[in-house]
Amino acid sequence: MSKKRFKVAMVGLGFGAEFIPIYKKHPHSEVVAVCRRNEAEMNKVADHFGIAKRYTKFEQVLADPEIDCVHINSPIPDHAWMSMEALKAGKHVMCTVPMATNIEDCDKICQLVADTGLKYMMAETVVYSREFLFIKEMYTKGELGKIQYMAASHPQDMDGWPDYWEKMIPMHYATHVVSPVLGLVNGRAEYVSCFGSGTIRPDLAQKSGNTFAVETCHIKIKDSDISAQIWRCLFDTARQYRESFDVYGTKKSFEWTLVEDEPHVIHTAKKPEPEIASKIKVPDYAHLLPPEIREFTRSIQDADHLSFVQGGGHGGSHPHLVNEFLSALVQERDPWPNAVTSANWTCVGICAHESALQGGQIVKLPSFTLN
Ligand SMILES: NC(=O)c1ccc[n+]([C@@H]2O[C@H](COP(=O)([O-])OP(=O)(O)OC[C@H]3O[C@@H](n4cnc5c(N)ncnc54)[C@H](O)[C@@H]3O)[C@@H](O)[C@H]2O)c1
Repeated sequence: MSKKRFKVAMVGLGFGAEFIPIYKKHPHSEVVAVCRRNEAEMNKVADHFGIAKRYTKFEQVLADPEIDCVHINSPIPDHAWMSMEALKAGKHVMCTVPMATNIEDCDKICQLVADTGLKYMMAETVVYSREFLFIKEMYTKGELGKIQYMAASHPQDMDGWPDYWEKMIPMHYATHVVSPVLGLVNGRAEYVSCFGSGTIRPDLAQKSGNTFAVETCHIKIKDSDISAQIWRCLFDTARQYRESFDVYGTKKSFEWTLVEDEPHVIHTAKKPEPEIASKIKVPDYAHLLPPEIREFTRSIQDADHLSFVQGGGHGGSHPHLVNEFLSALVQERDPWPNAVTSANWTCVGICAHESALQGGQIVKLPSFTLN
């Protein structure tokens, strides 16, 4: 087995700080640097984790030849340019969602990956959550039968989050609902049709240029008879946070709980009606990980961060994400999702909003995301 250890720089230390102890314990990595604009806050994190190199400018990270890879956890408008600059500087990239907020930037990142041979992975938490891994296992074993339909929802009230959220459009942060429906069947979105519904308050609408409170999108999956439906809202819609994923098969179906922390439900076909639905406890998948990082499917380092107050630990996905990225580097293969898959997942939301602005017209995904 390879003894290679990749040297990682963590960029953005809000949600990003959560990943530092995982990289520190993973057998194939070490965290050699952190980067954050606020020096005092950066030093607190670096002191806590004993990290020597501290940079307040991203350019300093890129100029450091010791660094092999960057894990970007900056605000959303910075994901695309930071990913591009890192690839140009010869660094592998793991970047939190979404890949970008426009199609051109997704294309440029895919091009850079193709040109440089470097690895890019979008750190999509949902497809490494225990629920997704459980459903995927059931699907792979044939327990669901043929899949007939999938649905996913992500309502989240973003009042009180960092300011840049006020400029966001619901479908421009849709990867948590796009990724499970496409990821389960390893499909590509071919085209979408999306409707906007309701209105948000005028000050928010002015900042984002979007008026819709909710956006609801149908996705046609390429070379498949399955279509899926997703919905998103960010403001002014009363609903507890939820990143749900429902899958309907011929033999069994999985339905997400309506209320956080209550059991999910499995429906089994052809049973007497009262026995069709049964509540289940989803198992943990730490056994898929190197022993050194198994504890991190259950332990949360920064439980006060808003993403944990609402996101509940993202289904134990963080160590799986780190392990997939590093395994891909060690094995010199593409990570999942790679750049093109990440672009397809991200562009669904971008195309969906375009569709909503045109009253639900079908919008095709760009061809570079279909390969
Ligand atoms: N489930 C998930 O996938 C999930 C959950 C939470 C957050 N996120 C994503 O993670 C990102 C960060 O979220 P957050 O809540 O920690 O945001 P935040 O705004 O609290 O933190 C952003 C961090 O980036 C740093 N930063 C900003 N500009 C920088 C620059 N130019 N150079 C270096 N550092 C810079 C800030 O100092 C801060 O440490 C967001 O894009 C968010 O969408 C994803």
